[in-house]
Amino acid sequence: MVPEIDQSRIPKHVAIVMDGNGRWAKRRGLKRTEGHAAGEDALFDAVEGGLEIGLQWMTVYAFSTENWRRPLDEVRFLMRFNESLLLRRRDDLNERGVRVRFIGRRSGRVPRRVVRHIEDTEALTAQNRRMTLTFAFNYGGRAELVDATRAIAAEVAAGKLKPDKIDERTIARHLYAHDMPDPDLVVRTSGEFRISNYLLWESAYSEFVFTDVLWPDFRRENLFAAIREFQHRERRFGEIQEGE
Ligand code: IPE
Ligand code: IPE
Ligand code: MG
Repeated sequence: MVPEIDQSRIPKHVAIVMDGNGRWAKRRGLKRTEGHAAGEDALFDAVEGGLEIGLQWMTVYAFSTENWRRPLDEVRFLMRFNESLLLRRRDDLNERGVRVRFIGRRSGRVPRRVVRHIEDTEALTAQNRRMTLTFAFNYGGRAELVDATRAIAAEVAAGKLKPDKIDERTIARHLYAHDMPDPDLVVRTSGEFRISNYLLWESAYSEFVFTDVLWPDFRRENLFAAIREFQHRERRFGEIQEGE
């Protein structure tokens, strides 16, 4: 039992922007990449916490389509680091009943070997249902909508779909993970108040919690605090309650 969390109202899906690794490192006189490395403990403590409270879907922003603009050394580090994290952790995640998935573009600059490890890990954990942990990797919300639009346009061109039959469900079906529920809660660390191209379509009605904690300092208690805050929000989805 986790104190003060209403177990009957656990969000179904929490999405996290793991931000602040560089600043965490800089404050300690370390290299930015050491901040990324320190973020691994934060991630797996948050995953543990999620499992503890029965969270079913957790999505984490690991690398954006804009992060390629960083210095080559840092980009290279992030590619290798994400690959090694996957290889080191996948058996453990699998034993815990976690289904690991990736959203984002797999083509382009992502090394072929990394794509292979992604596919292997997805296959290894595909039957698990306790939690789905999705890595947004080479992910951009706009790129996702571009890719969906291309796929829809191809169906129209092939005569399989009439333009006036395209609706919100058509678009949702063509996103990277069409079975993923929209995030109820989006958490961003490091005191930045922006979305940075994360889950643009999916977060239309998400609640947002921003915290000053830098990602490498984040622990399950911070996740629980964000969920408590979420549980105090009134979600309206454009409606009003009877009597208002
Ligand atoms: C988030 O930390 C990790 C990635 C974007 C890969 P940053 O590297 O953005 O850290 P700050 O925001 O510069 O402190
Ligand atoms: C968002 O953080 C991307 C990830 C956490 C992977 P950034 O640090 O890249 O976002 P900006 O540049 O501050 O908007
Ligand atoms: Mg950042």
